[in-house]
Amino acid sequence: MFESTAKYLRCVICKSALSIEPLTCGDEVQEGFLSCTKCNHRYPVISSVPFLLEDFSSYLAIRMALGGELMLMAKSSKMKLFVKEMLGKIKHVLEDTSELERNWVGIYKRSIHSQFYVHVKNLVHKLPRCDFVLEHGCSIGHLTAHLAKQNSLVFGIDKSFYAILEAKKHQRKNLDFIVADSLNSPFGSRKFDLVVVLNLLDIVEPRELLQAVSHQSKKFLMISDPYDFERGKASVKSKISPDELRLYLRQSGFKLIRRTSQPSFIPWKLNMNSRLSLNYKVDLILGQNATKNDPRG
Ligand SMILES: C[S@@+](CC[C@H](N)C(=O)[O-])C[C@H]1O[C@@H](n2cnc3c(N)ncnc32)[C@H](O)[C@@H]1O
Ligand SMILES: [Zn+2]
Repeated sequence: MFESTAKYLRCVICKSALSIEPLTCGDEVQEGFLSCTKCNHRYPVISSVPFLLEDFSSYLAIRMALGGELMLMAKSSKMKLFVKEMLGKIKHVLEDTSELERNWVGIYKRSIHSQFYVHVKNLVHKLPRCDFVLEHGCSIGHLTAHLAKQNSLVFGIDKSFYAILEAKKHQRKNLDFIVADSLNSPFGSRKFDLVVVLNLLDIVEPRELLQAVSHQSKKFLMISDPYDFERGKASVKSKISPDELRLYLRQSGFKLIRRTSQPSFIPWKLNMNSRLSLNYKVDLILGQNATKNDPRG
């Protein structure tokens, strides 16, 4: 992460400012700690990736293999000790999602030419230049990097370390990535001119997510979803339909623009492997914050 990113980040526990303690530096902070100036909670930065998570041990409890890798990736004895302590706090080891998260990096890399991303980029081109942009669930940062070409400062967040490690390969001075949970913003109450949330509503509780992201957007909110709610054990508790989503956005003060007031069916092809692809049809919405003198800032 860039040292300059630290000033935008907030403690995900008490929302206070963070100070940075770099351990290994080049152009970026490769390894170090972000510490809360109020509650002293420490957040690690490993291989240039900051983890702004409320409970790092719980995060690793379902990613033991990643925990082992982070031990190896950590360069300083201070960081190795920190990861070891976090692993030591785990009481119950749960089913490991590390391999699955690593596999998805390959799937997204094989799918960047899908018509869906072309469609989204075309829509993005029609927007005015924005100062602050945030993409939730940005995965490997394909679109985030594109957003950075036409906006001033762009951040991508995702819960998957492997996705963010891949996203960090897009190197631009106005672009940075963070491992974080969209339901607990690493930016505190900061608002963004454009907030992008693609294909996340059927993965993260949709109403909680919508509440978080609609409050974060000062000007534009771009949301898409294939409404794939039948995910077995991983299904969210409440579903949302295209009409309910549009109603929610309108009631939150957004005007639906660029012909997105009606549901759309944009092809999104995910190349799972050389013999299998998933063909979704995605609904895409662009909202413009129509609230005058928005009391939310
Ligand atoms: C279906 S993928 C969509 C990726 C990308 N937005 C796109 O459309 O190409 C969902 C992404 O959200 C991430 N994710 C899942 N739960 C999350 C959460 N609570 N907070 C942030 N990211 C999350 C996953 O790691 C994954 O990269
Ligand atoms: Zn704090």
